[in-house]
Amino acid sequence: MRVAVFATKPYDERYLTAANERGEHGHDLTFFETRLTSATAPLADGHDAVCAFVNDDLGATTLQHLHHLGVSTVALRASGFNNTDLLTADRLGLTVCRVPAYSPYAVAEHTLSLLLALNRKIHRAWNRVREHNFALNGLLGFDINDKTVGIIGTGQIGRVFARIMHGLGCHILAYDPYPSDEITALGGEYVGLSDLFRRSDIISLHTPLTPETYHLINGLAIAQMKDGVVLLNTSRGALVETVSAIEGLKSGKIGALGLDVYEEEGDLFFEDLSDQVLRDDVFSRLLTFPNVVVTGHQAFFTDEAMAHIAETTLSNLSNLETGEGEVHTIGPEMLG
Ligand code: NAI
Repeated sequence: MRVAVFATKPYDERYLTAANERGEHGHDLTFFETRLTSATAPLADGHDAVCAFVNDDLGATTLQHLHHLGVSTVALRASGFNNTDLLTADRLGLTVCRVPAYSPYAVAEHTLSLLLALNRKIHRAWNRVREHNFALNGLLGFDINDKTVGIIGTGQIGRVFARIMHGLGCHILAYDPYPSDEITALGGEYVGLSDLFRRSDIISLHTPLTPETYHLINGLAIAQMKDGVVLLNTSRGALVETVSAIEGLKSGKIGALGLDVYEEEGDLFFEDLSDQVLRDDVFSRLLTFPNVVVTGHQAFFTDEAMAHIAETTLSNLSNLETGEGEVHTIGPEMLG
């Protein structure tokens, strides 16, 4: 297939090119650095498919442009699909496929990294030691052993995170409309959301972003949480109402916040903006807290995950072309 790959970074090109050659897919890949939006959609002219990433805009207008150009397939090189208007894609007859699972370990392990860094103040200690400041004031953490961890969403990633936290001696509480036996086998307990908020020392989000989960963590939810709760979000930014999280940090209700995603990340993440003034005051405020660690949507970014993403993305396209083998398509049924 002729594939227009958008939002390409050097590492995307490296992994996709290697998979294209290694797997003998033989696709004709054109790499564009720019994000896919309704304005950049004309670049896909002459291609059968577009390959898009998490902050590309696959709303109705972009999809209509693509359809008009004769593009028939949208290959998401991600598992999340909240940036894609699946109803419009369905109406236009566009095939949308994704990479349902590439490395739940990558994301779960990064969630653990945020937790450990925040709890033991590694980000602050690193700076201090570089300044020859070896004082321990302000670096006090807590034993993670015996703490209660609330996991919202126990799919692939949530379950790996549950196993990790169980290994660290934690009690697992979980919330998911589709409970998993794996959680109960760990001694975990499925509870209602309010119960999870009330009882958890650490809360980690692993649900997709849907209309139902948008701002799941808002002021009302935070008010129910334990004082000093550690909140972790490595799923999608808009699960958390950021201004409410900031209020929670200011009041001390939230003891630490670890984010790999941010609701307005589209204009920030994946770019080097180090010589620019940040115009997002909410994000800038987040960065002022000593008990907040933000990473720029890097949880997926391991060698294994990148190789898997590239291979599955290209296999989806190859299998679509040949009509043989598995294609991970998604449609409006995913909206619940
Ligand atoms: P998954 O589809 O295996 O699991 C999602 C789980 O969430 C399912 O068990 C589902 O029943 C549950 N769920 C759906 N609606 C819910 C609700 N309202 N409340 C509670 N649970 C609900 O997905 P997976 O692979 O575990 O990924 C989870 C999310 O992680 C993705 O949707 C994506 O947004 C995010 N992600 C983030 C990455 C990063 O680099 N930061 C990389 C990959 C995924």
